[in-house]
Amino acid sequence: MNTRTCPVMTTTAGAPVADNQNSLSAGPNGPLLMQDWHLIEKLAHQNRERIPERVVHAKGWGAHGVFTVTHDITAYTCADVFGKVGQKTPLLARFSTVAGEQGAADAERDVRGFALKFYTSQGNWDLVGNNTPVFFIRDPLKFPDFIRTQKRNPKTNLRSNTAMWDFWSLSPETLHQITILMSDRGIPASPRFMNGYGSHTFSFWNRHGERFWVKFHFKTQQGHKTLTNQQAEQVIGKDRESYQRDLFGAIEAGQYPKWTVMVQVMSELNALRTAFNPFDLTKVWPHADYPLIPVGEIELNRNPDNYFAEIEQAAFSPSNVVPGIGFSPDRVLQARLFAYADAHRYRIGTHYEALPVNRPKCPVNHYHKDGAMRFFENNPNPAAYYEPNSFGGPVQAPEFQEPPLRLFGEAGRFDQRDASDDYAQPRELFKRMDIEQRQRLGSNIAASMQGVPGFIVDRALAHFDCIDLAYGQCIRAGLDQHGVEYSTR
Ligand code: HEM
Repeated sequence: MNTRTCPVMTTTAGAPVADNQNSLSAGPNGPLLMQDWHLIEKLAHQNRERIPERVVHAKGWGAHGVFTVTHDITAYTCADVFGKVGQKTPLLARFSTVAGEQGAADAERDVRGFALKFYTSQGNWDLVGNNTPVFFIRDPLKFPDFIRTQKRNPKTNLRSNTAMWDFWSLSPETLHQITILMSDRGIPASPRFMNGYGSHTFSFWNRHGERFWVKFHFKTQQGHKTLTNQQAEQVIGKDRESYQRDLFGAIEAGQYPKWTVMVQVMSELNALRTAFNPFDLTKVWPHADYPLIPVGEIELNRNPDNYFAEIEQAAFSPSNVVPGIGFSPDRVLQARLFAYADAHRYRIGTHYEALPVNRPKCPVNHYHKDGAMRFFENNPNPAAYYEPNSFGGPVQAPEFQEPPLRLFGEAGRFDQRDASDDYAQPRELFKRMDIEQRQRLGSNIAASMQGVPGFIVDRALAHFDCIDLAYGQCIRAGLDQHGVEYSTR
């Protein structure tokens, strides 16, 4: 009789393992035998324990939670997730830094990813945003170039302030995001203490087929807590995993972080009349003109049991929308609709959406078939393996048809640069900062310019002067403090 209290260990093929301590050898001190399949399996499995890290946003922290509707917005959207007040939808959140690799320290100055997967009754809705309402570029053609400047120099294998400021000073559309990144908000103390933004303009459509443009906001209910460069250095000196420790620890302790979900809504007509392009990712919509409308609340209340399975293998994509939520002419969003699923197929595999963390919590009926690691359930109706068919296979449902998206224009590569327009919104942001915030902003920018050739610093300063002469002066004060060379006093 088996009197053990623990289950019997087996090979992956299910056979009992008699000895997990001693390799199979020829005599007590002799060489090992090829037939020690258990040893070979252990070594081979270990060699395959890593998948490629995300090309960007590699370092991340995540948890499960719930979205609760608190206000009725059915006038704007028929999305089931907003169906009625009090309705709850399970979700997964993953926060991240952009540039660092998987082992990067958490408390580095960088934009933070703010990715949410809502497991709605009509499929997964992924909102793959950041902790900033804008982004560095407005044309996706520049994304790979921009990311190059954030990653390691191919020769030195070091990150390069020169590459970063060379690109930024040649791309004034980055100024708004730089101003946020270098401000106090640039190093949140932990993901619990930062806002999230969908950043792009998306669309809502309601049951009458009317379309509205929409921006999503997630306001931290924990309040904002940020670190200065000096504080961050101290934190990193003691703990490179400060975010993981804080988020995981808070949830384990029952202190569930919450965010208030809000939207800004713009009619299609108003979009034609705004002074700025409402689909330009480098711009915010002024709150005075487009006030925040409360929608609901998200709460993170369950840590993953297995980080790799539930966070590393999580696959978010802006292309995952549900009926009632659509895209917009935002060209960066358009490119992202391609980039993510493509990245997931490379990083995780063909059937990544069938993994437990990515699998929708509603019926899934498609005709995709084979491929590596095809492990999901068989079609209960095997005769219907193509479409259309006469054997009762799944069919399209025209009632979910999105209203047509009005588009116009001639195909061409139109210049997206309008530098005068790149200064106005950073100016507004700078004007709202008090003296001390401005000093820290100038000092943070100057610190990030260390080692950058003078002609690049001068080119950057010329842009900051155009935003506000006082902005340029704050940076010059910081440059003097940090001993960085420049010639335009
Ligand atoms: C991750 C591409 C712009 C937010 C990623 C990944 C790729 C990518 C390939 C890795 C996906 C993976 O392996 O799982 C792009 C491209 C962009 C772009 C091509 C522009 C053309 C943006 C913008 C935002 C954003 C504007 C926010 C507003 C994120 C976030 C993640 C991510 C949060 C991490 C998602 C996660 O936690 O798994 N991006 N990205 N990206 N991106 Fe982007």
